[in-house]
Amino acid sequence: MTVTNAIVRMVGLPDLEHILAEYGEAIKALPAEESANLLSRPYDEFKAAVENGLFFVIENTAGNFMASAGVFDLATPGEKELGMCFVKKGWRGYGLQTLLLHIRICAATLGQVPDTNADNAATKSYAALITGVKPANARSAANTGEIGFEPLATPSAALFIACAACRTPLASDPGRRCCCDFFSLSDARRAEVIEKSLEMENWSRTRNSDRLIVTLKIRHLQDPQFRKALQGIAHELRSGNPNNHRPNNCRT
Ligand SMILES: CC(C)(COP(=O)(O)OP(=O)(O)OC[C@H]1O[C@@H](n2cnc3c(N)ncnc32)[C@H](O)[C@@H]1OP(=O)(O)O)[C@@H](O)C(=O)NCCC(=O)NCCS
Repeated sequence: MTVTNAIVRMVGLPDLEHILAEYGEAIKALPAEESANLLSRPYDEFKAAVENGLFFVIENTAGNFMASAGVFDLATPGEKELGMCFVKKGWRGYGLQTLLLHIRICAATLGQVPDTNADNAATKSYAALITGVKPANARSAANTGEIGFEPLATPSAALFIACAACRTPLASDPGRRCCCDFFSLSDARRAEVIEKSLEMENWSRTRNSDRLIVTLKIRHLQDPQFRKALQGIAHELRSGNPNNHRPNNCRT
């Protein structure tokens, strides 16, 4: 059995160009139908996600890129979008998309604690977590569905703003506003993901006779105060705290 050690960590501003280059290369090198699934965002949005501490990379001990993904602010403050997930070909099959979903759900939840004194219902909620998946992307649909994302009945207009910069505009389906379908995470499933993430010591998966062990260098899951905060949030999400209303446009 071969064992590869890796880490997952937050991306910093010095990593920007290197990470973008990985996406640029992948877009060129992947087969067209797969490259179309790689929904990269405009530079400013990518940079903002990095500045918000909401972009993560998995790399081996030599610092070579394996996978990456982020969370993006939308024009509506009550929503955040998980996107730009990419697992490099040689590292597929170890569940790295699922690992990156766990980490982003924890980090995005911790990054926006509701203001319970505010009058506006949206500021009393944790931002709804939404993701877009192309109908043909069966692997992503399976991974996001398994973790708990459910179809979003009425996606907000803010989700369609990114369409202006999309590399793969709509084909000839007149009923579609976007090439993606949108999904959101219920409070109960979000609590479940947070609790599972807090139990993780590392991410270890075996494919054939190759083992990958990813050490979690994520302060949201390491720092005792952050962990305590996440435990409290999971409890609150499960108990259906009346201060924790979801925005009206969320089905779940
Ligand atoms: C979608 C993606 C992130 C999934 O990667 P991953 O987390 O490694 O996938 P999983 O670990 O769940 O893979 C499970 C199985 O599917 C296979 N698989 C994963 N991605 C695949 C792909 N794009 N095509 C064919 N098979 C794939 C894996 O090899 C594995 O097979 P196995 O069970 O026989 O070992 C990755 O395929 C990718 O980066 N695709 C291009 C960009 C993209 O689609 N991003 C998501 C946008 S919503």
